[in-house]
Amino acid sequence: MGEEYRVPADVDPGCELCTESLPGGWVLAYRNGDGPGEGTRETMLTLGNGYLATRGAAPEAWADGVHYPGTYLAGFHNRLSGTGLPDGTESIVNLPNWLPLTFRPAGGDWLAPGQGHRVHEHRALDLRCGLYRRELLVVDRDQRRTRIRQRRLVSMANPHLAALETSIVAENWSGRLEIRSGIDGRVVNANAPAEAGGCGRHLTDVATGEDDGETIWLTAVTTCARHQVAVTARTRITDTAVAHSTPAAVHEPDDVSQIIGIDVTPGEPVCVEKTVAVFSTQDLAVSEPLTAALEELRYAGTFGALLAEHAAAWARLWERFRLDVGEEHAWQLSVRVQTFHLLQTLSPHTLDLDAGVPARGLHGEGYHGHIFWDELFVYPYLNLRFPELTRALLKYRHRRLTAARRQAATAGMAGALFPWQSGDSGRDESPDCSPSPVTGQSVDDYTGRQQHVNLAVAYCVWRYWETTGDLSFLAGCGLELLTETARLWAGLATYQPSDDRYDIRGVMGPDEYHDGYPGRPGQGLDNSAYINVMVAWVLGRADEATAILSRHPGMMPWPDVAATDDECRRWRYIARRLRLAFLDDGILAQFEGYGDLAELDWDRYRRRYGDLRLLGSMLQAEGKDPNRYKISKQADVLMLLYLFSADELAGLVRGLGYDFDPARIPATVDYYLSRTAHGSTLSRVAHAWVLARTDRRQSFEMLLTALGTDLADPEHSSTRNGIHLGATAGALDILQRCYTGLEVRGDMLRLNPLLPDGLDGLDCVIRYQNQLISLHVDHERLQICAAPGADQPVQVAVWGRSFSLAPGSTVTVELDPPPGAAA
Ligand code: BGC
Repeated sequence: MGEEYRVPADVDPGCELCTESLPGGWVLAYRNGDGPGEGTRETMLTLGNGYLATRGAAPEAWADGVHYPGTYLAGFHNRLSGTGLPDGTESIVNLPNWLPLTFRPAGGDWLAPGQGHRVHEHRALDLRCGLYRRELLVVDRDQRRTRIRQRRLVSMANPHLAALETSIVAENWSGRLEIRSGIDGRVVNANAPAEAGGCGRHLTDVATGEDDGETIWLTAVTTCARHQVAVTARTRITDTAVAHSTPAAVHEPDDVSQIIGIDVTPGEPVCVEKTVAVFSTQDLAVSEPLTAALEELRYAGTFGALLAEHAAAWARLWERFRLDVGEEHAWQLSVRVQTFHLLQTLSPHTLDLDAGVPARGLHGEGYHGHIFWDELFVYPYLNLRFPELTRALLKYRHRRLTAARRQAATAGMAGALFPWQSGDSGRDESPDCSPSPVTGQSVDDYTGRQQHVNLAVAYCVWRYWETTGDLSFLAGCGLELLTETARLWAGLATYQPSDDRYDIRGVMGPDEYHDGYPGRPGQGLDNSAYINVMVAWVLGRADEATAILSRHPGMMPWPDVAATDDECRRWRYIARRLRLAFLDDGILAQFEGYGDLAELDWDRYRRRYGDLRLLGSMLQAEGKDPNRYKISKQADVLMLLYLFSADELAGLVRGLGYDFDPARIPATVDYYLSRTAHGSTLSRVAHAWVLARTDRRQSFEMLLTALGTDLADPEHSSTRNGIHLGATAGALDILQRCYTGLEVRGDMLRLNPLLPDGLDGLDCVIRYQNQLISLHVDHERLQICAAPGADQPVQVAVWGRSFSLAPGSTVTVELDPPPGAAA
């Protein structure tokens, strides 16, 4: 473990970063970090471009239990046999580390964690331009003081390029300085050791070489998928006046580096630029990764030139993704940090990839890079900013329909069954058992029963279509995804002639604390409210999509994917007769039999454990079955209020033939909220939304917790294994859609803004029907401004008052929220 970086009180670190005035709302800075929490800092300092990402590890560090250099390509997975599931678990692959760069005074020690005394360290991530700066002052055992200034980027302009610029100043010594710059192919996946499977060595057949005197390269192949990756690195001393030796290559097993010797004089900086290209066999328009990577480097400019185009690319992205709560607002930085990390995972460079939405971003190996249902929290934000991304990401699902159909058929079901966790192949990667975060012991894991992921995909398809009106997507992918999902659920619904109702039995909703009835863990539950209402809605949308496309015969997909008239008729019937269960006071029951469960003594548990986010595992550790209690890990019934407006939900429940009084919604929210442990970071997002109209103060508190998910790094946080992408995007979406009351329905952009007291104003840019629309909302007025252009005016309604917004026009509406909108 590295020494603690403390600035002795009597030493002026002379750090440029400390004295520079960095714009507060744009810079995430860490000063004098120490051991614990370093994994989280590395995650938060990750640089990426939607194709390639590298954790913010120090270039002189290696995976040593404190530091974890990790580099990942989106959608680049490999199955590691002998781990996790019987035939192995697929995982995102930790790629050869391109960062290694260190130095030593000739005869001294290489700079490394634990070597020398770190007088001062300051790291600052400038979000405006995606530039990671670091200043480090070290003193070695011979009292030689050396200052290191580094700048690092992963290019948003050219997704294959990354660069590290290092300036080294010998402050009180002169002589020979040796610099070692390398590519380390000895890496293993070891970032999330507590998770079942996936950890270990994913790379084999490593080859190394040199090119043109200043470039080294390393290629490796994944053990099972046989994908090849090529990493090339050019290291250059940029000061022409500085005399240096010819780089000498050092080849070690699975590792290659170059050593360059330079004569240094006190106070004179030496500048080293390391420029890196990464390609893989999965890239389009590339015949061979190594050739492509070498060629890319030949064309790559200086660090300054790369930075200029990278910063310009970020500037353009920020124009599209602006979301401001006020430069002085305490949460402005968090909003930008979340936006930044979202865009580093999903960017315009993702468009051409076969990648989904990894729950932990491209920032670590949490959940092995698997894809869950978290896209449900991500796409609504993207739909109004960069809908092409949603479209591209939904194709990840569409390409895996064959695997999903097979999974359904194997389980004796109709339609298509997307697995709860998937990687590359689309096969089910959900573990059968997982280590308990409380005891560390392996426990049965039934979370893979969450077939509701299929409903989430269908929901995303429809909301994308509704927001964009993209008929070619609906025809080419959407209809088939909706139809196969409808077939799955219609097939699972069983008819009870006695009361003319359909049941869906043996399922599991989003609340992972309930996977069965007491004494029958893992066997599923009957008539989950979340699932049955969602199924009713999806059946309706599949029917509607079929009808829409039948009106556009020329758009009808070439394969025969549309539902038959008989199927649509049956779906319409099921959608009216699915069973829902209610508690005695008319509140929707989470599932049938929920009312018979025991109440947990929450006060006792809070007194005993404080933080209850691991409540399910805590109960298991006490030998108790969470299925026995009225508790939730995360929003389940209340997800319905996150996904549907009160009107829509009322319509759905009434459509099923039950009474639904919207006046009961606050009681329903209270009931479930008071029984929720927020064991998932998604929970606070859903609840912040649900509370926005009834308890704005609590909603805002929930939002702030969600925004701080990764920054705050609370105990038991797993941010060191990656960001929580769903919570990240979901929190931004609360600001974008929930507090502005933004809804796209019936060719109309509806806005019903109601800001919480904690926000003075909100500025954002959205894209609707191809128009760029800037919104400014505060407590008194809403200003809507459409960018000039040739598009048709769009129809807008603000608190029910509608008008048409032409390109280039600005409309200001005085806000006069209707009575009953609670503070
Ligand atoms: C949550 C799931 C979520 C997963 C990945 C789990 O803790 O319960 O809803 O999909 O994390 O983010």
